[in-house]
Amino acid sequence: MKRIKISAILADAGLIGKDVCVKGWVRTRRGNKYVQFVALNDGSTVKNLQIVFDMNKWNEDELKAITTGASIGVTGKLVESQGKGQTCEVQAETLEVYGTADPAEYPLQKKGHSLEFLREKAHLRPRTNTFGAILRVRSALAYAIHKFFQEKGFVYLHTPLITASDCEGAGAMFQVTTLPLSKLPKTENGEVDYSKDFFGKPTALTVSGQLEGELGATALGEIYTFGPTFRAENSNTPRHLSEFWMIEPEMAFYDITDNMDLAEEFVKYCIKYALDHCRDDIEFLSEHFDPELINRLEFVLHNDFVRLTYTEGVKILEESGKKFEFPVHWGTDLQSEHERYLVEQHFKKPVILTDYPKEIKAFYMKQNEDGKTVRAMDVLFPNIGEIIGGSEREADFDKLNARIQELNIPMKDMWWYLDTRRFGTVPHSGFGLGFERLVLFVTGMTNIRDVIPFPRTPNNAEF
Ligand code: 4AD
Ligand code: MG
Repeated sequence: MKRIKISAILADAGLIGKDVCVKGWVRTRRGNKYVQFVALNDGSTVKNLQIVFDMNKWNEDELKAITTGASIGVTGKLVESQGKGQTCEVQAETLEVYGTADPAEYPLQKKGHSLEFLREKAHLRPRTNTFGAILRVRSALAYAIHKFFQEKGFVYLHTPLITASDCEGAGAMFQVTTLPLSKLPKTENGEVDYSKDFFGKPTALTVSGQLEGELGATALGEIYTFGPTFRAENSNTPRHLSEFWMIEPEMAFYDITDNMDLAEEFVKYCIKYALDHCRDDIEFLSEHFDPELINRLEFVLHNDFVRLTYTEGVKILEESGKKFEFPVHWGTDLQSEHERYLVEQHFKKPVILTDYPKEIKAFYMKQNEDGKTVRAMDVLFPNIGEIIGGSEREADFDKLNARIQELNIPMKDMWWYLDTRRFGTVPHSGFGLGFERLVLFVTGMTNIRDVIPFPRTPNNAEF
């Protein structure tokens, strides 16, 4: 008999009275000498299917392998359930045990485990209701992202992961090399001889696909990237990963307002998609972790984001009278506490801050007339802080080149990027959404390590 997924069973009342075959992992078994109940989960939904063993037909010995974590297949008739908590159940007729899980050793027992404990068991935590729900939401959001851009005619551009240029200029990159670290080849003046390295020059894992994205946008019009990015910054916070996924749309002929409009429409689309398609999972997460979750998601959907300049934002922060851990004044980079104050306390709405001081933003942003600020835009969210960073790009060759000189960015690595401004340059804009920060927001989780299957953070590359 062909296996049917539990999600399909729960969605189709027409299956009641029919024989079904289900396969999955045992969550619990309980009962007495007359009847035994097994809660089975197959990963297709947060809901378990109840399997009933009539102990007139089975003996305890046949069921002894059914312990938490074991994998089994069952066939039997699907019937309406008398018990509370489920609509239907399967009356077991045949049982196949695929793999046992010794209760003395299997780490995920019936009781709820802390998220911290589960981080140490990241290889098994997808088997919990919580991580099943998070990972399904994550997958649905990834699909929604492609759907959003594909329906708008954006081209999905694949940008390289190995690169010789530092897009954000932050210098926090993971080097990629095949040189023997214990015996580095040296040049005559004692420096590492990268001509002997695999690519013949120093390379690193990318921090952003944006620069190549701009090459795509100035040819294809509107593109997006969606892939892993890497940052070697030593930020041990609940919002930073060393390896995270980023979505970077880049659009020719968009100014910063078009860019903000797209960003707002985009995140709202993703949130709505998750609410429409992952209701059970989001309800589960709300029930167990964050009773305000669904309200917060709906609230973001139904309100316009507030748009103001960095300068106006800093003024509000200065006048708030609040003691921040990091003092704030014009010119400082905003910390998460400042961003969250604006969003959660002052406006009580998502905020888009624009026109930041050029010193705290990357070289490629369009320079404003005032000579002090650039046409940057950061989207700030409740509980998260910065979820999106972007800008209108400097399209003028001379201005961009001057900024590159000013910042001493090595030109030999940038010649191809500058060609976009030398040949048929256009006004253009783009932004980057941190995928895990979106998943954090939609699932109501509070630590970014809990919304990616296998987190990479300083001192942690297990699994
Ligand atoms: O603000 P960032 O650094 O901007 C860029 O990389 C631009 N090249 C984007 C663009 O304009 N195309 O990063 C963009 C977003 C942030 O807003 C944040 O959501 C996320 O990426 N992000 C991180 N997420 C998890 N861990 C980290 N270490 C992150 N650093 C940035
Ligand atoms: Mg940023």
